Amino acid sequence: MADGAKVRTVAEVMTTDVLTASASDPLAKASARMIERGVGSIVVVDPGTPVAILTERDLVRAGAAGADLSTARVSDWMTPNANTVGPNDEVLAAFDSLNAHGYRHLPVVDAGALVGVVSIRDMLKLAQVLRIEHPGAIEARRGLEGVVVAETEVGDVRGQEGFYHYRQYNAVELAEKRSLEDVWHLLYEGHLPTPAERETFAEEIRSLRTIPPAVKGLLPAIATAGDHFVPLDALRTAYSLLAYALDFRSWLDIDKVTLRANAMQTSAVMPTLIMALYRLNQGLDPIDPHPDLAYAANYLYMLTGEVPEPGHARAIEQYLISTTDHGFNSSTFTARVITSTGADLGSAVVGAIGALSGPLHGGAPSRALDMLDAIGTPDKAEEWIRNSVMKGERIMGFGHRIYKTDDPRSLMLRGVAERLGGDMVDFAKQVEKTVVDVLAELKPGRNLYANVEFYAGVVMDKVGLPRTLFTPTFTSSRVIGWTAHILEQAADNRLIRPSAHYAGPPPPVPVPEL
Ligand code: ACO
Repeated sequence: MADGAKVRTVAEVMTTDVLTASASDPLAKASARMIERGVGSIVVVDPGTPVAILTERDLVRAGAAGADLSTARVSDWMTPNANTVGPNDEVLAAFDSLNAHGYRHLPVVDAGALVGVVSIRDMLKLAQVLRIEHPGAIEARRGLEGVVVAETEVGDVRGQEGFYHYRQYNAVELAEKRSLEDVWHLLYEGHLPTPAERETFAEEIRSLRTIPPAVKGLLPAIATAGDHFVPLDALRTAYSLLAYALDFRSWLDIDKVTLRANAMQTSAVMPTLIMALYRLNQGLDPIDPHPDLAYAANYLYMLTGEVPEPGHARAIEQYLISTTDHGFNSSTFTARVITSTGADLGSAVVGAIGALSGPLHGGAPSRALDMLDAIGTPDKAEEWIRNSVMKGERIMGFGHRIYKTDDPRSLMLRGVAERLGGDMVDFAKQVEKTVVDVLAELKPGRNLYANVEFYAGVVMDKVGLPRTLFTPTFTSSRVIGWTAHILEQAADNRLIRPSAHYAGPPPPVPVPEL
């Protein structure tokens, strides 16, 4: 029976109008009454007290032995000392008793008195008596923590070690030494590009950055729909339109080359969509991608129309590289689940954007900066954080499902923030230390440290990105990881379809007549 489901008792399923006979009755009389009532047994009583049971099986035995039913007595063929159950016994216990003895009926006895009979037929009315579990079913921990659900060659996160990698390469080292395009190539093609491959790949991306005309014309409506502009919601809507306009199909109906082309188009156009929507909402014209700028510099360029300082472009590039992929995080898992159904790549990416939008996942960096604003000055940090944690609130940008030590992305981004410099960086470092200390005191043993989101907000702010673009910016890099996973899922697919324990009141209840 399902954990948490109500236990059902014999009293709930038994038949109370019990057919009884006396031991001295002729067998013919007892069997005629059983046929008349359409039941397979009769309880033999010695006024009020059950002493035995006479079943169809006993009648078959009597017939086979040539007994004369009119002269034979119930006492000659009944099963004496019948097993009984109590009305408050669990149905499952009664079922086990029937099963163990091969019986089909059990008298129900309360304080020595016959109060009912329970049969296999009564139990079969209860579908959940013996819930058939899927053979080999495994009980997963809440939130699927620690549950391995697939194989991947894209990368891995080793939480205890504070280490993660993309196809064997330490991701932080990649962020220090390589461009985003190189990492993108690594994720899609399985290896870092040669100089010639780098050129070809960059050329391919360049040609796909432009928003298709069928979508471009509708962007002003999306950017200004609703009173409150949420760039990520607008992006989700515009990207969905793009996937539809470009005729992305179920990957079951297209070849690998077309699916990869869908992935390239998606990752290449995402930054352009983000910035076009943002500018349109501000009443400004979108800025076309700069043909000579690489991904990260072009990203900042499309916000202002100014070629960014190299230091700013490199800072945002390092952030983007560090967030391209991260194991089976919630949004990546979402993308793989949707892909496993054979859905088109666009549907999987739209779903993943939705998963990323949540404050427990990708929606935290702007909230982390809001927290710095709310704290105001270093001397107020401890009191503010202490009060928040005491109230049961979560400190945004801290804690992680996998990392129980420093998040390597946070360490790297703290370094990037220090390089950019400024009062806010110093303040953020003081707040980080205070949060870690307060959480260690108030939440001992939980090992809560700054995650990627804390310094991400600081870095994005320092390079001039408005807060509402923080999560869309995260989306622009993570989409490369999502699509790499989508390609991998499609290459070796099995429908992802787990099960759940039903924990509500037991079924079935009769459907009320109208
Ligand atoms: N502030 C205060 N307490 C926290 C925090 C936090 N940021 N994070 C975890 N805890 C506490 C919880 O209250 C809980 O305490 P309890 O044992 O007294 O109930 C304990 O630590 C364990 O928390 P869980 O929610 O079980 O941890 P889980 O692994 O499910 O959550 C998560 C991970 C969602 C990231 C969590 O740490 C959190 O909410 N952090 C704040 C939001 C955030 O920064 N999100 C971005 C994550 S990074 C990314 O997705 C890219």
